Amino acid sequence: MSTLITNIAELVTWTDDDQGDQSGQPILEAAAMVVDRGRVAWVGPATEAPAADTAYDVGGRAVIPGFVDSHSHLVFAGDRAEEFTARMAGEPYAAGGIRTTVRATRAATDEQLTAHVGHLVREMQRQGTTTVEIKSGYGLTTLDEVRSLAVARQFTEETTFLGAHVVPESSTPEEYVDLVTGPMLVRAAEHARWIDVFCETGAFDVDQARTILNAGRAHGLEPRMHANQLGHGPGVQLAAELGLVAVDHCTYLSDADVDALRDAGTIATLLPGVEFSTKQPYPDARRLLDAGVRVALASDCNPGSCFTSSIPFCIALAVREMGMTPTQALRAVTETGAAALRRDDIGRLTVGSRADFAVLDAPSHLHLAYRPGVPLVSEIWVGGRRI
Ligand code: NIG
Ligand code: FE
Repeated sequence: MSTLITNIAELVTWTDDDQGDQSGQPILEAAAMVVDRGRVAWVGPATEAPAADTAYDVGGRAVIPGFVDSHSHLVFAGDRAEEFTARMAGEPYAAGGIRTTVRATRAATDEQLTAHVGHLVREMQRQGTTTVEIKSGYGLTTLDEVRSLAVARQFTEETTFLGAHVVPESSTPEEYVDLVTGPMLVRAAEHARWIDVFCETGAFDVDQARTILNAGRAHGLEPRMHANQLGHGPGVQLAAELGLVAVDHCTYLSDADVDALRDAGTIATLLPGVEFSTKQPYPDARRLLDAGVRVALASDCNPGSCFTSSIPFCIALAVREMGMTPTQALRAVTETGAAALRRDDIGRLTVGSRADFAVLDAPSHLHLAYRPGVPLVSEIWVGGRRI
């Protein structure tokens, strides 16, 4: 059954003439959209809308593609609110805090983990996210990584094996890299689409990261990376060398890193909630865009470095602190977020794409940054159905 969505003040489609600099054309005004069998069947001016089986009037509000959050760590138990509070009082963020969450996650039952992920996914949906990537990484044993991925897979196709998050206390780095590239990988690959590694001082060095990502590839997983989050380092160069679709964080970049990303066509996924929650400097999105690097934004929702599930919050930070226009920031959490997951069926509202969209309680997407902290997402539609 087809539905005509009418009275759309502004419809963000991302159709046609992508200007390459993510400047955000086209956006239709006084528009309509037809959805049929879960897909977008037509978009255009309201005056030219075709007939459909039913009609739904959005009352002069804006319609945007559902957000694609390409980076999250939702499978965990417990929280680290005290660690956050200490940071706000001046303590630095350190990767070692991950082990606190590993202990809590191992102690949780599958049912508890599933209920918690479900709670967070619903929290994300209420804020406009219709696709989320979810990583393991708080298990660090074969059993706990595999069950984390099995839980994640109940909520998304975009599951990522992050056994290489940190080295657990019980192993040497050499032993653990052998496990992550051996028996753990074999089991994890049954439940994951992607493999990730935290390449940073205190986690895995660049040679270990290369070994882990190549092993993942050999088992049919596609690599992605956490790199250059806490300081300058060789991680981003490795991402470019391996031709990764995306490399995430990119907080500290040299000019050579920016050039390498551009030349490799690797998307830089920036996670500004992390800089908010760790008091580090924000990454320079403007510099990347000016250099011709595609920029995605994602939440990185996790209990340590950034416990926000809110993409609108990330948009507001990117616009206020990182030199993005509101339109560039919206593209970065929709079409470019989808591209970072090698998806072109979501993150846009063009004919044939999935009818995943949000109706804003506002006449324009500009309000997402203009009205920070205000819950503007008033309706969520997934596969052509309002949820
Ligand atoms: O993306 N950087 C590594 N992993 C997470 C943080 C994990 C944690 O602190 O629990 C991140 O920031
Ligand atoms: Fe992360």
